Amino acid sequence: MSIFKNAEWVKPYEGFGKICPIFKKEFHVGAHGSKLKKARLYISALGVYEAELNGERIGDFVLAPGWTSYNKRIQYQKYDITNLLKSNNRLEVTVGEGWCVGPIGWEYVREIYSKHVAIIAVLKIEYEDGKIITIDTDKTWEVAESPVIFSGIYDGETFDARVIPHNWRGVSICKRSKDALVMQDGEYVKEIEALSAVRMLTTPKGETVIDFGQNLTGYVRFCVNASAGDVCKISHAEVLDSEGNFYTDNLRKAKQQIKYICGGGEECYNPHFTFQGFQFIRIDEWPGEFKLEDFKAIVVHSDIKRTGHFECSNPLLNKLYSNIIWGQKGNFLDIPTDCPQRDERLGWTGDAQVFVRTASYNFDVNKFFVKWLRDLKADQFDDGSVGYVIPHLNLFPNTTNSSGWADAAVICPWQIYLTYNNVSLLAEQFDSMKKWIDYIRKNNKNEAIWLNNWHFGDWLSLEDEAINGSTEYKLLIANAYYAYSTSLLVKAGKVLGKDMSAYETLHTKIVKEFKSEYFENDELKFKLQTAYALVIYFGLADDPQKMAKELADLIIKNDNKLKTGFLGTPYLLHVLSQNGYSEVAYSLMLQEEFPSWLFSVKMGATTVWEHWDGMRPDGTMWDVGMNSFNHYAYGAVADWMYGVMAGINTDESNPGFKHIRFEPIVDARLEYVKASIDTKYGTVASQWRRDGADVHYIFDVPEECTATLCIDFGASRGKTVTEVGPGRHEIK
Ligand code: BGC
Repeated sequence: MSIFKNAEWVKPYEGFGKICPIFKKEFHVGAHGSKLKKARLYISALGVYEAELNGERIGDFVLAPGWTSYNKRIQYQKYDITNLLKSNNRLEVTVGEGWCVGPIGWEYVREIYSKHVAIIAVLKIEYEDGKIITIDTDKTWEVAESPVIFSGIYDGETFDARVIPHNWRGVSICKRSKDALVMQDGEYVKEIEALSAVRMLTTPKGETVIDFGQNLTGYVRFCVNASAGDVCKISHAEVLDSEGNFYTDNLRKAKQQIKYICGGGEECYNPHFTFQGFQFIRIDEWPGEFKLEDFKAIVVHSDIKRTGHFECSNPLLNKLYSNIIWGQKGNFLDIPTDCPQRDERLGWTGDAQVFVRTASYNFDVNKFFVKWLRDLKADQFDDGSVGYVIPHLNLFPNTTNSSGWADAAVICPWQIYLTYNNVSLLAEQFDSMKKWIDYIRKNNKNEAIWLNNWHFGDWLSLEDEAINGSTEYKLLIANAYYAYSTSLLVKAGKVLGKDMSAYETLHTKIVKEFKSEYFENDELKFKLQTAYALVIYFGLADDPQKMAKELADLIIKNDNKLKTGFLGTPYLLHVLSQNGYSEVAYSLMLQEEFPSWLFSVKMGATTVWEHWDGMRPDGTMWDVGMNSFNHYAYGAVADWMYGVMAGINTDESNPGFKHIRFEPIVDARLEYVKASIDTKYGTVASQWRRDGADVHYIFDVPEECTATLCIDFGASRGKTVTEVGPGRHEIK
């Protein structure tokens, strides 16, 4: 029986208005003839909440209960409040509109999941003698206006510290089903670290700007000493423009503004129900003087544990790696988002899919993806199609899925299985994975080939738009992904002991159809970098060596520069290094001119940009319509840094790093590379250092693990393959 069986969803009374409500319950806890054993609060909200008992914050979950597909799944949290309990108690819960009620998406659609905020809660008090008392949300609770005058995920917050909630009135009961309530299954979102401001500047326009030195996601905490009614107002931005002025055009409609009305005296504040993507703040209004020390940037994200580390002799690559880490921190706030600043911040499936391997090496994202994939499964349509964003929103009415995006349904669970050996996730998602493949199978005249549907294609690629945007080329990509996802479904089914012969046959057919459709006399019909990358990586080429050579030639002819977009980029370097063109792959990795990974680093980036040229060498910007400076998609290259530069790889037949395949590829342009990944068995590490003509390799294999060391000793000795057990292994 649900913990909430006697509790009711309660909401503000009719005509309450727009100010964020604070709900209250006062209660007395008697001795009941026995000693108090423990007290727990179970709570959730439509909206985002912060709860306090007797003035003390309960827990440290920011933006609780997180974002799920609320109509189907809404998480509740459980807090131990034993130590906060007194004999006379006041439980208060303030609620902001959050994702559930407030505007979401660039159209600012409101009330997607509920017309009003609400809470549901149960306080369970247990005594030593076994007696249990519960306090449930019901009509005896009261509600008043809180000091949070305004709050919005995109627009920010207005807080009036002079407000002391009064005029308490009874709540209304809200007739909402309790069926969607599920116990917290994701990671908690928390304040993870605090960054000091690095400098204060006056822009050519005369704006006073504070720089935190790092593009991040979270909010600013500030302290001020002023009179009641004085106003502190700040705006947030990711970058300064070419003239050095505060730049907010790329935020589109998102205001990202904080207004604090002082209560009087010394006080510190940070927003409660919003977050911003920023490196800079502009002081729009302030009472009197202020110092840099009055401001701290609070980094907020899901409480995922850092597991991956990478370092090499090239400082620009190290900075790129750091930018990738920050891109993940900034976009793993309860769901994997495209970006954390403009009026979007949505769970784009394509972005999550391309980044999942890197994400799973950088941080322990097992739980994080289990939660998000449950929403994906819950939001998947009956016909098997998957929306562009999860939690699903009706962004472009009448279209639901796109190849490369919806494939997240298959690729993400498979990768989480590989990195963490999470078989139960595979079992849980298997039907959803299969439904996606069946959707394609059933919605095309020939079950083995996509012939229709609209697709994003190789999003933001630098190829000629007439070709890149053409239906024919997008269908090549779609069919390549169809083959790949089907092959992963087959593998997943086999792990689970299922008979996958029907899908094996389907896969063979897809590959055959693909070859006859997209090859003519052994020539690939579209000679584009992404086409080659997908065809080779997804096993669709009869002669991968020949394809890889053609790709390498294309790149060399293009001055060692890439042209790939979201879908081709993650595989580009892999297919080169897997087929003997690691030098070309390294040339792309080390390329410093646009378009390249290091171009943005040289331009001063501290996160990964959405566009290869979000900012141009002269400081001018890509179109304001879509120009995020914190988009992790191209950061997917970190998986090549771990997997090829350092050579740390999982083994499909023994995943979770139980068996490791070390296969580093050395390049003469680097002196050393070292990387490590913390796994459930211990730390897997690899490093190499050039020492004159020699290379010194060191591999660390955790207890209980085994490894294959594949070392290429060059033309004279060729490749050696050695099987080893736990411990440190050194090779020169
Ligand atoms: C998002 C992307 C997303 C794309 C769909 C954009 O607005 O920011 O990252 O994948 O739309 O193609």
